[in-house]
Amino acid sequence: MRLTAAPLRQICGQRRTLATFVERDIVLLRQKLNQDNFILTKPLNPANRISTHKGDISHSDIIGKSPRDLVTSSAGHDYRVHNVTLAEYVSLTRRLVTPIYPADANLIVSLLDLHPSAAHEAGKLEILEAGTGHGALTLHLSRAIHAANSQKPKPLPSPAPDSVGGEPATEDSSGSGQTESDDALTAWKASRKAVIHTIDISPKYSKHAAKVVAGFRHGLYADNVDFHVGDASGWIKSEHERRNSDQPFLTHAFLDLPATHDHLSAVASALKNDGTLIIFNPSITQIVDCVQKIKQQDIPLFLDQTLELGNNGTSGGKPWDLRAVKPRAAPKVQSGEESSDSVQSSGSEEPEKQDQNITRDPAQTLTEAKPEEPNWTFVCRPKVGERIIGGGFLGVFRKMNNPARP
Ligand SMILES: C[S@@+](CC[C@H](N)C(=O)[O-])C[C@H]1O[C@@H](n2cnc3c(N)ncnc32)[C@H](O)[C@@H]1O
Repeated sequence: MRLTAAPLRQICGQRRTLATFVERDIVLLRQKLNQDNFILTKPLNPANRISTHKGDISHSDIIGKSPRDLVTSSAGHDYRVHNVTLAEYVSLTRRLVTPIYPADANLIVSLLDLHPSAAHEAGKLEILEAGTGHGALTLHLSRAIHAANSQKPKPLPSPAPDSVGGEPATEDSSGSGQTESDDALTAWKASRKAVIHTIDISPKYSKHAAKVVAGFRHGLYADNVDFHVGDASGWIKSEHERRNSDQPFLTHAFLDLPATHDHLSAVASALKNDGTLIIFNPSITQIVDCVQKIKQQDIPLFLDQTLELGNNGTSGGKPWDLRAVKPRAAPKVQSGEESSDSVQSSGSEEPEKQDQNITRDPAQTLTEAKPEEPNWTFVCRPKVGERIIGGGFLGVFRKMNNPARP
């Protein structure tokens, strides 16, 4: 019996399957012999090539391949093709501002404690994010709420060609097709059970972030997000006016912008009772400024938690190096450093002996183990010498309608 992959959905006239890459996919290429050499492609287009210092790779060679297949550059170097994860995508896309790093974004999403539901009776989640920046947290938030929303209605097909001249028929004079499409889109937008209002004061950053969000997996998470350009507090004020109500409408808010304390009053006016506001600040003194402002102006927010971010701190996940390796010939041990490695052995050789072959720089002494090789061992230790990323502080606040302080 011949098995064929089930079609997932139609993209640009091509049958998208779970098994193969198609036009407009963005993929990650990792050099087979050097895992640290990787490339995030542009959307695949058969007319395009990637130029690398290891030769050129044609997009058409990638289209039709499956995850983990190999492509060979014009200079004969093999690259493995991978689906790109959200974390890889936000870290590797061209950036104009510093994003929230994936490990920190995951923590923030978890602290927001989002529970999206498509159920009819479920309340609507409205989340404010300011500023949008790179769109990194935007994508993580959108992934978290995605299950709440139905698919956006497809635009109506463009007019059929004129039967005589073969020219496209002119739009009908009333333009009713377009109006219908617009109405359906407006109705669908209003019906979403979860939405992210993301706002940035810079039109340039907002436009770039919208492209970043739309570029991930053919815009999978783009329709949960409304992009706005302007000042965060100004947008909240205009939103109260547009809704013709002073009533709070936000369930959650996240602020990553300068002078956070200046926006607390506006955010509190829009946040529902017990709603969560998280602020990110590079310095702990900025969190103190916020608490001070809350006290001075009697803003109905209560500081629930203060957390330090960063790989060297207590959150975000400390990266470990965990690989099955084959030690090369024993180097001369120059110091006692090596004994700190934690190693498990697969073979008969004494673990202590293998331990000595692992130095602080695994690249110097280890090769990746092949399954058939005897006496392979594990590198199993925190990564050292990595680029330090992240860092900063989170203040987690709750809105309290009851003015009595807890
Ligand atoms: C560090 S970036 C945010 C990064 C973002 N959290 C991410 O994950 O990609 C800060 C952003 O705040 C924006 N910004 C500065 N002042 C603002 C204001 N008053 N209202 C809205 N956005 C503002 C900046 O233009 C900048 O894009």
